[in-house]
Amino acid sequence: MNHRGSSTLILGANGQLGRALRRLLPQADFASRAEIDVRDPRLDSSRDWGRYDTVINAAAYTNVDHAETAEGHGRDPRRQFSC
Ligand SMILES: NC(=O)c1ccc[n+]([C@@H]2O[C@H](COP(=O)([O-])OP(=O)(O)OC[C@H]3O[C@@H](n4cnc5c(N)ncnc54)[C@H](OP(=O)(O)O)[C@@H]3O)[C@@H](O)[C@H]2O)c1
Repeated sequence: MNHRGSSTLILGANGQLGRALRRLLPQADFASRAEIDVRDPRLDSSRDWGRYDTVINAAAYTNVDHAETAEGHGRDPRRQFSC
């Protein structure tokens, strides 16, 4: 993650959408799952979210077949995160 005065943060930065946003918004901050896991129960308090004007969530669990199983339902990061 870089900190060059940007007020935009993109989560899920290593996915297809996140990589496209790197090209479009090179001045933004980017966080891969290794840096920010949106399912982390401490997410709200683990970051100074107020420093960002915009947070774009490109993180998603995209294994569609598995997501439709009972186990997969619990993995969908969109169920765990709102901004
Ligand atoms: N691609 C498109 O053309 C397109 C178009 C319209 C909308 N969208 C939407 O954009 C979103 C992302 O799609 P995508 O194609 O970029 O999917 P993707 O290539 O599968 O990327 C998803 C990214 O989310 C990360 N991720 C998964 N669980 C996470 C978690 N708990 N915390 C943080 N990051 C997590 C993954 O990290 P790992 O690499 O570590 O698994 C991966 O880098 C989806 O909601 C999709 O519906 C995509």
